Amino acid sequence: MKKEPFEFEFQVYDSIDELNEQDAALLNMARNVTAAAYAPYSNFNVGAVAKLSNGETVAGTNQENASYPVSLCAERSLLATAASMYPNIAIDSMAISYHNFNGQSNHPISPCGMCRQSLVEYEERVKQPIRLILSGLQGKVIVIEKASLLLPLSFGSIDLK
Ligand code: THU
Repeated sequence: MKKEPFEFEFQVYDSIDELNEQDAALLNMARNVTAAAYAPYSNFNVGAVAKLSNGETVAGTNQENASYPVSLCAERSLLATAASMYPNIAIDSMAISYHNFNGQSNHPISPCGMCRQSLVEYEERVKQPIRLILSGLQGKVIVIEKASLLLPLSFGSIDLK
């Protein structure tokens, strides 16, 4: 038996003011688009905005349902829109923010497990990593160079061969 380490680095910024202009603009869009979420059950609005390699911008928000498991996260809503409107175009960066109407919105959240799997599939599909910019409505910002770093030992198409 041998033990294999897993570690990854990410960047932590004290606030949006430390980001470059493009990242700050993307994060501001993600913060603003939380208003378009439909989250009457959790009162937790999530907004995601991506910059594509063709220069286009695509947004996604969580869309809940009275039958709870039917609900869709912001990230997967964005990926479905991006793939439908701009097939085979890579996503350079995706900013994710949220507005928690039950509490604070001042620390970064990162994608749920199901969204991590979808993000990794997208990276594989277009053969380019997705850079993630994570932050609440205010406070610290985390930047992760590729979504797959969030899903070590992931299951993918190669396993089905
Ligand atoms: N949610 C997202 O949209 N993205 C995440 O990364 C975490 C969770 C949504 C799902 C649900 O509508 C609400 O946030 C509370 O879990």
